[in-house]
Parts: sequence; C-alpha cells; structure tokens
Amino acid sequence: MENFETVEVTTDLLILGGGMAACGAAVESAYWAKQNGLKVTVVDKAAMDRSGAVAMGLSAINQYVGLSEGDNTLEDYVNYVRNDLMGVAREDLVVSIARHVDSTVHLFEKWGLPIWKDAEGKYVHEGRWQVMINGESYKVLVAEAAKNALKEADSEIFERVFIVGPLMDGDRVAGAYGFSVRENKFYVFKAKAIMTAMGGAVHVFKPRSTGEGLGRAWYPPWNSGSSTYFTLAAGAELTCQEVRFIPVRFKDGYGPVGAWFLLFKSRAVNGLGESYMETRRPELDNWGPYGHVKPVPANLRNYLMLLDVNEGKGPIYMKTEEAIQKLAAAMPDPMEQKKKLKELENEAWEDFLDMTISQAILWAATNTQPEEKPSEIAAAEPYFIGSHSGASGAWVSGPEDLQTDATKADYFWGYANMATTKGLFCAGDASGASSHKFSSGSFTEGRIAAKGAIKFIVENNTQPNVADDIEALKTKVLAPLALFEAEKAKTTDPDINPAYIRPKMYMFRLQKIMDEYAGGVTAQFATSKAQLEKGLELLGVLKEDAEKLGAEDLHELMRCWENQHRTYQAEAHIRTMLFREETRWPGYYFRSDTPTMKDEWYCFANCKMDPATGEWTMLKRPIHKLVAD
Ligand code: FAD
Ligand code: ADX
Repeated sequence: MENFETVEVTTDLLILGGGMAACGAAVESAYWAKQNGLKVTVVDKAAMDRSGAVAMGLSAINQYVGLSEGDNTLEDYVNYVRNDLMGVAREDLVVSIARHVDSTVHLFEKWGLPIWKDAEGKYVHEGRWQVMINGESYKVLVAEAAKNALKEADSEIFERVFIVGPLMDGDRVAGAYGFSVRENKFYVFKAKAIMTAMGGAVHVFKPRSTGEGLGRAWYPPWNSGSSTYFTLAAGAELTCQEVRFIPVRFKDGYGPVGAWFLLFKSRAVNGLGESYMETRRPELDNWGPYGHVKPVPANLRNYLMLLDVNEGKGPIYMKTEEAIQKLAAAMPDPMEQKKKLKELENEAWEDFLDMTISQAILWAATNTQPEEKPSEIAAAEPYFIGSHSGASGAWVSGPEDLQTDATKADYFWGYANMATTKGLFCAGDASGASSHKFSSGSFTEGRIAAKGAIKFIVENNTQPNVADDIEALKTKVLAPLALFEAEKAKTTDPDINPAYIRPKMYMFRLQKIMDEYAGGVTAQFATSKAQLEKGLELLGVLKEDAEKLGAEDLHELMRCWENQHRTYQAEAHIRTMLFREETRWPGYYFRSDTPTMKDEWYCFANCKMDPATGEWTMLKRPIHKLVAD
C-alpha cells in the first residue's frame, strides 16, 4: 500500500476506454471542448493503437447505409435491425446512429483507410450494409486521428490504466478510480461528465477453446464487462442484458463468416450434405413475423443449424470450395476463370488475415485450401456485445428531435446517450438496444454521446464533490496484492492456498456456472427457471469468495478486477433471462420451460442494482415503433 502513489487528475470530460466509441468521442469532444475551453481526458487499460475489438484489424465496415448514394433509407435500416432482433430495438437510437454513420465512414477513408472500390469507383459491398476494406491497420489509423484531434484541445491520455469503478456525488457521477497495470499507481479521476466506452464482455461463459487453445475466443479477451459494472455501480439502468450474441464462426479459430455468406454466396451444410436453411425452413413458421423476414434473423439462422447439430447431424461445413468454383465458373472464358480463381483465393485468405489471423494459421496448419476443401463452422460461446447482433448495454436517452409524443416520456431525458445516472454517457457496446452499429456505428455513437456530454457540462458547469472515501477504495482495490503477499508462504504450490483464490481459478468457476446453468455450449444453449435459480445461488457463493481474490503482481490484480466485472455481467444476464418468461431468441438461448415467444413480452427487459445494498430491480419498458414495417 505504502508503495502505491495516489495520482489525482481533475478534468471536465472523462472518456473511459480507447476503442471505436472512445475514439469517436475523442474526435468529436476535442472540437467542442476547444470551443468551450474544456479539458478532455481519455483512459484506456491498453494502448489505444491496438486496443479493443478492432485490435487485429477488420475486413469490412459492417454499417454503411449509403444514404447519399440513394442505396437505402433510414427506414430500411430500422426494419433490418428490428427484424434481426426479433422486434426488440430502440428505433430512435438506431436512426440517431444510422443518419450519421456514412459521414464517419467517409472520414475513415479521408484518414487513409483503404475501402475496396469497383471499376466505377463505387464501394464494393460485402452485403447490403457492409463495405469491404483492407483493414489490418484500421484501429491504428482511427486511434491516430483521435490522438491528433486531442492534441488540438486541452487533453490528456492515460494508457494502461485499468478503471475499476465510479466515484459519485449523490445521483451524479463525479469520477472514476483505477490503477496502472505497469506502475505502482492508484488513480483518481474527477470529472464533470463521463463517457463509458469500455466495450462488452467475453469469458463470462466457458469458451470452446480449452487447454492449449485457452484464451482464444471470438470477442477480444481484454473486454471483460467493465462497462456493465461501471454503469451498474453508478446506479444506472441497463437494458437487454439477456440478449447475448452467439456468432457462428469457422471452428476453433473463430474466423468470420460474413464474407463467405454474403460476398462469396456460400452455403453451409450438415454432415449429410443437407442445407439446414432449406431442410429446417418450416421451423421458421414458429417465430411470428420474424421467421419470414429477409435476411432470416441471426439467432434463427443459428437455431436451424443447432437443430441439426443436436440431432447428431454435424459437423457443419462452410462449402468454401463450392462457392469459389461457382464464382470462377461464371466467368466467360478459361483465362478469366483462372484469373478469378486466383483473385478469390487471395480474398479468402485476406478476409482472415485482416481480422482473425489465427484462422489463417489454422488453415495452414490443417492443410486447408479453401478452393479445395470445406471448413467446419460452429456456434461460439455467448458474448455480450451490444454493437453487433446482441443488444446488451445501458438504457440511454435518445436525441430530442427523434422523439414523438408517444416516445418522449419513455426515451428522452435531456441529453443524447446519457444513462439514467446524471452525467454518465454511454456508447458502443456500453449502450444497449441499438444493435448493428458495429465499428463505424460505435465510432458514430461515440461522437453523438460526446457532443451530448459536452452540452451537459456546459449546462451543469460545476465540479461535483467526490463523496467516496478514497483511502478505503484504494485499500479495496489493492487488497488482492496484500492478501497474496501475506498468505503465499502457507503452501508450496502458489495456485492452491486455503486463504486466497487466484483469478484464473475464479474465472473457471464463473465460466462453469454460466456454461452449465445459464445456457452455455455444454447445455446446448438451453436453460430454464430452475437452472437459472440454481446458477444464481452458486453465483452468490462465488461473489462471497471474490473477497478472497489474490494477486501476485499488477497484471494479476487486473485479472482479479476483470473477473469481478464479469461476475456482475453474469448476474445481470441470469437475472434478465429469469425475468423474461418466454423464448424470443432461440439460437442465442432457449428457455425450455417457456419455449415460445409471447405477446406480453414484446418489451424491453431492464434491470438496475442499488449500489449501496446490491439489491436488483427488474423493469419492463415499452417498445415504440418510429418506422412502419
Ligand atoms: P471496443 O472497440 O472493443 O473498445 C473497448 C475499449 O475499452 C478498449 O480500448 C479497451 O482497452 C477498453 N477497456 C475495457 N475495459 C477497460 C477498463 N476496465 N478500463 C479502461 N479501459 C478499458 N465491426 C465492423 O464494422 N466490421 C467487422 O468486420 C467487424 N468484425 C468484428 C470482429 C470481431 C472479432 C469483433 C469482436 C467485433 C467485430 N466488429 C466488426 C464490431 C466492432 O469491433 C465493435 O462494434 C466495436 O469495436 C465496438 O466499439 P467499442 O468502443 O464499444 O468497444
Ligand atoms: S464480423 O463481425 O466478424 O464481421 P460476420 O462476418 O459474421 O461478423 O458478419 C459480417 C456482417 O454480415 C454482419 O453485418 C452480419 O450481420 C452479416 N451476416 C453474416 N452472415 C449473414 C447471413 N448469413 N445473412 C445475412 N447477413 C449475414
């Protein structure tokens, strides 16, 4: 303790996270902060150049509406998102992002991101909403723009500082506390408004990858539920905590499927060579209007596949060789066909090399030539990612101009993207019910939220008092180091000790509970009231043991707090699945005791936790449509 310096930083706007939403917030807030003489501070647990989900790069920008090209309308996008989420979307938030996202993509291009172009100079689309990029350095480029913008304003960036929780002044957020993962420093940030953009959560559920593959997941291992914990601990309401995302991915390397399904027009078949999207089509009749929309919602696509898997009809194969040969064969002469084949082979490898390098390595390691042999695909373990085809995140205010008389009382409380806690703004994976924003939409939402936050600061320009006991927080945060140091000599094996639990062991316990009781891979994504209640009971015992987490060094201290954050994400998830007494997203999870979709659950399922008592409240919130079907 005595070796840890306390560093205090006072600022106006505090941006937590350094990913896509945070970079958008940095670019936008730098502009407005300069005009208003305000200071902006960014804190990332990692290095912004390669932090967050875009660290490895991406091969497509998944949200581009094409408004100026006249390709689509905002109504089209709302319909797409609403249908994909089985009716559950905040349409004001979806429009708020969609109307600005194209300008973000144009900025990325201006900053140097290579977007594929066709012979006429138009963007090459992967699918209707996605454009192809050479995106290995996507994050580096976006972070550079954010840093350059911040240089123009009064600003500071702290990298490798892990944020643990919020500081409060009554019902207004007043700052954040955390620690350096490289130096013996405890940080106290005091701010007039906070933008939370610390991503979603992975490794809450047991991953498919075990043993030598442990740590490999689709969602990046460094996003561990900090946004969820931070917003809950600040007393804010969360939404859609049951709407996990289960991506179907190339098996074991988690390579993306979008380019295969959309760009290469590939089919997926079971071990008998049957296409589950065809043979299982009648099942779609059971899921209301959403069974008959185009494209079939992501969770229903998963579900049709899982029905085959559960009947022992696997493995499931992506017919890469069939798709490549078919596209090449469509060329007019043999020379063109040969050229096309080479081009497609290159694109297939680049798709992985741009964003999931390990899948390309796995292809190489297993002698897989995509033009010759199909590859297995599988449903991954569940993740929390409100920016993709999941929806979990904070319940935030929409923009005023998009409200109607019907929506205003439910969806608007003063500042765009402010959570229900005063001064706390959220974007990207941290904000909920506005799915399908992806990298470009998250950056855009960061811009919107930051502009809202600056407006809040200008209109509430007082430095809040920090009511928390800083010394007590410091002791709590560093306790795992002290415990390990005091008890380590009691056993010869540092992993096994009656006085403490190491973060990895703790994580295994959390993952086992979630996997078996909350509908993970082992449970075939099925659960029930009885299972969830048992899971909650075991989670309660685990939470007691969290006080006994021990850390050997700063890195392990971070692991301890990551797992604390995951635990709250897990609890929010279990409680919300328990609350929603229906099955609305089969293929994401199936409640075997309430196996159908019900009209009375056509609503948002929200939750909040009293930070003082730890008591949870569950709430239903209405869905208002802004756009006709
Ligand atoms: P992130 O970009 O993940 O940023 C989170 C930030 O929070 C990071 O900087 C992290 O270091 C920081 N952080 C976390 N915890 C803490 C803490 N406790 N303290 C301080 N900082 C913290 N989108 C596309 O458009 N096209 C694609 O092809 C595409 N492919 C994807 C592939 C994968 C594997 C994944 C996971 C996502 C993909 N996406 C894609 C979606 C896109 O990456 C996300 O929508 C976007 O990154 C979300 O932005 P964010 O800012 O919310 O989170
Ligand atoms: S990524 O995040 O890793 O890029 P993925 O490759 O699965 O995800 O999907 C990219 C985009 O294609 C997303 O917008 C996703 O919703 C969409 N997509 C993927 N598969 C399909 C499909 N079979 N039908 C329609 N859209 C799809």
